[in-house]
Amino acid sequence: MNNYYPFVNEPLPYHYDSLEPYIDCKTMTLHHQKHLQTYIDKLNALLKENPSLQKLSLPQLLVNLPLLPSSIQVPLQNNAGGVYNHRFFFSSMHQPDSSPVPEDVMEKIEQNFGSLESFYEQFKQSALSVFGSGYTWLVLENGNLKILTTANQNTPDLLKQYPVLNLDVWEHAYYLKYYNLRVDYIDNWFSLIDWKRVETRLLSSSQSGKLLLH
Ligand SMILES: [Fe+2]
Repeated sequence: MNNYYPFVNEPLPYHYDSLEPYIDCKTMTLHHQKHLQTYIDKLNALLKENPSLQKLSLPQLLVNLPLLPSSIQVPLQNNAGGVYNHRFFFSSMHQPDSSPVPEDVMEKIEQNFGSLESFYEQFKQSALSVFGSGYTWLVLENGNLKILTTANQNTPDLLKQYPVLNLDVWEHAYYLKYYNLRVDYIDNWFSLIDWKRVETRLLSSSQSGKLLLH
């Protein structure tokens, strides 16, 4: 049986300056080394006090929240969610290049949103609609792609929704470069999406059939 505890802050799959000029090196450094690290430290501290949870993966912790004592539900949601959401976000991006959206992903996008442009517009409006801090997600549910938002460090319903992409719209994700202009951050972020990773997630969702494997 795997033991996931203690969680460690794994290196990003790219350098901190790889996402320039769309996301600056300082923001990426702080986001990974300070913000994510803090969620990891707090999650490990919680799990230290609750050894029976130490063998659970992040998705397992998150889907089992309703079964846990109420005193631990909120801190666990905030911190396990904080780790899950950030790892997902960081691994959804890559150094900008000109590689096209893979054909099978494009087909799925067109089926569900009409066109890539229409998807971008709907995703952007969703990201702009997050009041305060949170995320916008692209998830697979019942075979269809859909866009949704979560507040704070909440996650999609991982028993029903299979995430394939997310965007962190907490101010710490963009404020140093974009100040209050979330809309500019979103527009530029589209250039950073790792569509191959989205494709891998879509393929693994249909092959595994088990949401908890992601
Ligand atoms: Fe963040």
